[in-house]
Amino acid sequence: MAFTLPNLSTLFTKEIKSVIGIDIGASSIKVVQLRREKGRVILETYGAIALGPYAGLEIGRATALGADKIAEALKDVIREANVTTNDAAISIPYASSLVSILKLPMSVEKQLPAVVPIEARKYIPVPINEVLLDWFVVSDTKKTPADGKIEVLLVAIHNDTIAKFRSIASSAALTTAFFEIEIFSAVRAALDHGLAPIAVADLGAGTTKFYVVERGLIRESHIINHGSQDLTLAASRALNLTVMQAEERKRKFGLTGGPEVADLTKSLELSISPLVAELSRTIAGWEQRNNQTLSGLVLTGGGSTLKGLKELMQQKVNAPIRMADPFGKTAAPAFLEKILKDAGPEFAVAVGLALRRLQELG
Ligand SMILES: Nc1ncnc2c1ncn2[C@@H]1O[C@H](COP(=O)(O)OP(=O)(O)OP(=O)(O)O)[C@@H](O)[C@H]1O
Ligand SMILES: [Mg+2]
Repeated sequence: MAFTLPNLSTLFTKEIKSVIGIDIGASSIKVVQLRREKGRVILETYGAIALGPYAGLEIGRATALGADKIAEALKDVIREANVTTNDAAISIPYASSLVSILKLPMSVEKQLPAVVPIEARKYIPVPINEVLLDWFVVSDTKKTPADGKIEVLLVAIHNDTIAKFRSIASSAALTTAFFEIEIFSAVRAALDHGLAPIAVADLGAGTTKFYVVERGLIRESHIINHGSQDLTLAASRALNLTVMQAEERKRKFGLTGGPEVADLTKSLELSISPLVAELSRTIAGWEQRNNQTLSGLVLTGGGSTLKGLKELMQQKVNAPIRMADPFGKTAAPAFLEKILKDAGPEFAVAVGLALRRLQELG
């Protein structure tokens, strides 16, 4: 007669729970599923789906879709990536939020919970009861600031935006642990713990987001109205290609295609230059205002994976540039190492969301 001993070890270990980070970007949805095991963060699966086709546009284009179409795409990518959990964390686009720094007199430090919502009215263009408000002190409370002001990072999201994302999550049968503005997720995934000020640039399809982080806190954020689809559209016009062909060539050759595609290289260089110039101006402006140098610039977002971009940017920017390596914070099979390093920048937001959810579960 067969006799099996109960596996005692499983009686005393916590249930192993998988979580999914979901980044709904303008051009694509990215998902990353993680689980914690013996203190390590295991990458279980990841995937992306282009939203263009759901909007009658090409792959790589920025879209402005309603909740129904987004939910449809989300269900598709969950199925295609073999996601097995419904424990989700979802990002809110920076463009759908309002993030600003309030400077308040030191004298109100003890009354911030009462003062911040009142001050916030000056910054928020809609009635305060229409938004979800959050705030954090970002200045170093151990030091007395030179101008006698404390800095508070104020974050507001419109109730309609939250409602839209809730409806997307429920259509896809997900339980949402939290919504987080994408900048916080990207920073968690792209940076290590460090005190020195460092910048992060997230190159999306339609726009680029730029953040300065110091002591792990966001000190400044901007949106730059140039993104990677500008390159595709310009190359399509200049070289008489369809948008789809131009997108394929951009991804295949980037800026390092060699003499046979010199026209493509020229066109891509031309159309990336306003973005590079604006980034370099933004960095120089920050350094001047704060009388400090940035310790580095970390690139994230699908647009940053353009071949040769990092090297081109390094010629115009003083701070040392590196690509984000969010999957480096997870354990995965060794044979995937190169693929995950290359794809990583695109998945920074999704990884950052899943990492926070795992931290919450303990
Ligand atoms: N290998 C590649 N080389 C060059 N560009 C690429 C590559 N892969 C993706 N891209 C470009 O990256 C862009 C999409 O990046 P990403 O997925 O980060 O944007 P998004 O999150 O959808 O947009 P946003 O952050 O603005 O909401 C597209 O324009 C696409 O053409
Ligand atoms: Mg994005």
